Amino acid sequence: IAGGEDEDLRLVNGGNPCTGRVEIYHNGKWGTVCDDSWDMQEATVVCNQLGCGSAVNAPGSAHFGQGSGTIWLDDVGCSGTEEALWKCPPSTRGKSDCNHGEDAGVICSGSKGYRLVNGSNACSGRVEIQYNSEWRSLCSLEWDMADANVLCNQMSCGYAVNIYTEDFVENGTNEIRRDYFHCNGSESHLKFCRSHSFGNPACTTGQVASVICSGSKGYRLVNGSNACSGRVEIQYNSEWRSLCSLEWDMADANVLCNQMSCGYAVNIYTEDFVENGTNEIRRDYFHCNGSESHLKFCRSHSFGNPACTTGQVASVICSDLNGRLRLMNGGSLCDGHVEIYYNGTWGRVQDELWEMTDAKVVCRQMRCGTALKAFISLSNNMNESVWLRSVQCQGNESRLLDCTLNISYIQQSEVAGVSKYASVICSEHMQLRLADAKGQCAGRVEVYYNGIWGTVCDDWWDMVDANVACQQLKCGHAVSINSAVFGKGSGPIWLDDLMCYGNESVLWQCQSSRWGKHNCNHKEDAGVVCSEFKQLRLADGDHHCEGRLEVFFHNGTWGTVCSNGLNSKSPTISLVCHVLGCGMSGRLHYTPTFKESQNDKSIDTIQCQSYHTSLWECPSSPWFDKPCSAEQETHLTCSDDPSVASEA
Ligand SMILES: *[C@@H]1O[C@H](CO)[C@@H](O)[C@H](O)[C@H]1NC(C)=O
Ligand SMILES: *[C@@H]1O[C@H](CO)[C@@H](O)[C@H](O)[C@H]1NC(C)=O
Ligand SMILES: *[C@@H]1O[C@H](CO)[C@@H](O)[C@H](O)[C@H]1NC(C)=O
Ligand SMILES: *[C@@H]1O[C@H](CO)[C@@H](O)[C@H](O)[C@H]1NC(C)=O
Ligand SMILES: *[C@@H]1O[C@H](CO)[C@@H](O)[C@H](O)[C@H]1NC(C)=O
Ligand SMILES: *[C@@H]1O[C@H](CO)[C@@H](O)[C@H](O)[C@H]1NC(C)=O
Ligand SMILES: *[C@@H]1O[C@H](CO)[C@@H](O)[C@H](O)[C@H]1NC(C)=O
Repeated sequence: IAGGEDEDLRLVNGGNPCTGRVEIYHNGKWGTVCDDSWDMQEATVVCNQLGCGSAVNAPGSAHFGQGSGTIWLDDVGCSGTEEALWKCPPSTRGKSDCNHGEDAGVICSGSKGYRLVNGSNACSGRVEIQYNSEWRSLCSLEWDMADANVLCNQMSCGYAVNIYTEDFVENGTNEIRRDYFHCNGSESHLKFCRSHSFGNPACTTGQVASVICSGSKGYRLVNGSNACSGRVEIQYNSEWRSLCSLEWDMADANVLCNQMSCGYAVNIYTEDFVENGTNEIRRDYFHCNGSESHLKFCRSHSFGNPACTTGQVASVICSDLNGRLRLMNGGSLCDGHVEIYYNGTWGRVQDELWEMTDAKVVCRQMRCGTALKAFISLSNNMNESVWLRSVQCQGNESRLLDCTLNISYIQQSEVAGVSKYASVICSEHMQLRLADAKGQCAGRVEVYYNGIWGTVCDDWWDMVDANVACQQLKCGHAVSINSAVFGKGSGPIWLDDLMCYGNESVLWQCQSSRWGKHNCNHKEDAGVVCSEFKQLRLADGDHHCEGRLEVFFHNGTWGTVCSNGLNSKSPTISLVCHVLGCGMSGRLHYTPTFKESQNDKSIDTIQCQSYHTSLWECPSSPWFDKPCSAEQETHLTCSDDPSVASEA
């Protein structure tokens, strides 16, 4: 039997779809795979086939419990490049002399559709999400620790240790996904979190979500002052056990620190974390050479090792994430008050003599360009904590920790009165957005500068200037420059008399009058509609939750959505209702119910899947320069009817 068409593959009993006992569906029944000659090549094929990232481990011996039914495959010999497990020899099914105690398992690096890249291991890095087979970075604007915890957990990477790092910023020009997740932290997968994407503002290069997770499942450091120090514990069959210290050395400890994204080992000779309990102590000896990326790649043995007494437990203090910076309460990642991470806690910087030389170092360390301003912000919030008082930099240091400073932790509540916090504005803090249209690629042009959002005057505002704005926001090109149709803005009028050549990558590279110098008022605020402006509506119903489905996308016109391939249960229908705020489902009318469209453009075969978060991610036909027939229009009533709600 060489087939494959009616075969299927899954991983069970591993806590997520990308970890577990390998099971194959064949001849109408699920069965298992024997672990004879089962190794990383086979695991690689399985992980690839399931869209689960790369193979992390290929445990045998029913590591994920014994399966049942037929053992469909034995002695599998993949080369690693096969597109499916059943493309690997042998082609026979069900011929095995194994028992279920030898069932094969796989641990893959990532859940389908999610991965961490450019970190030091599979459990840290920039968050990327797969859409239609392309990987995209995720916008950091609403990314928080709860979201990151869910991701770490779903990837079998423990919990989130840090999301405030600039280390994994991509320098490329990949489009950044604007999904916002609103997890409460207890979900088992990001897909179970509330999320939205449609209409979120553009995210600039550098504003990308990242996370450092505590480490691969199965290892943790406990009773230290932070996730990067403590007693070594290893998980066996869901129980955590301390590790014997008899052969634990710096090389082993280095590997562990590295695999947990905790830097390198600083000290293993401490009794601070000794456990006083009676937990059985694991007698594994690791023989790492120090360059392995994970303890599991080190030679190790356990068999026959002598017993270890209480107190003989391995521990480590890793170098940690100490010294990382973040800028808070600004309008970008590159302005705000300075916070430094130390010993597991973020704290502020208090400095009466905070100067440009200090700010320079902060901006450099944060990769935010040069320092534009060093200033003091005031706060009387008692809940704040402080790490640094008095910082003196030369200006050429690469990290704030390299300056002369006094690091010690205080809780602000211990000190009375208003506190003064070191703050900076770096050159890369400037941002552009389009405001007050119901979509992200049209609106009043607004610029964030010097910590304040302001507008652009429309004197000399033309299509060339508008094009620069559209391109900067990855919104295509300018379609029209209806100034003032988006209403008056507020705040400073930052730019006037703009004169772009069209080759500029950001609007403020264009010639203009000085920042804030103008002879305008807000009635003259510049606006633009870019070609990627997207909107959808239900037209000609009694309210906005019913009607004919139309989209505005194609160079400034509304088009009709034809209903080929759709029915009331299609994810496309629930997505449309959801993004319009009209409930989670809808009913498709099979006979025309609302007025016929007058549009002369249409689009067809929209195929959203349940994981899509916006209509614009879904595959579809190209645009047609003709309408769909009246019968083919998409007439829809969503489950939440606002008129019913208001009558009730
Ligand atoms: C970052 O990760 C991507 C995807 O794995 C890879 O193609 C790229 O080479 C990496 N870049 C760096 C600088 O490591
Ligand atoms: C981005 O560029 C910076 C500075 O050139 C570099 O240090 C960093 O490794 C780059 N990051 C990636 C992911 O390529
Ligand atoms: C978190 O969200 C999940 C999924 O929506 C829900 O089942 C759970 O009850 C929530 N937990 C808390 C603590 O709010
Ligand atoms: C040590 O860590 C364990 C596991 O996190 C925890 O249950 C225990 O309370 C800690 N003990 C002390 C003294 O911190
Ligand atoms: C173990 O006991 C010692 C002495 O009583 C104590 O100092 C230490 O904190 C305890 N360690 C843990 C992890 O509970
Ligand atoms: C350390 O061990 C790894 C894995 O066994 C091996 O690939 C590497 O070459 C070794 N490195 C050194 C310096 O011996
Ligand atoms: C754009 O083109 C103009 C005129 O050719 C040139 O002077 C200017 O330096 C260019 N600007 C950029 C940012 O490349």
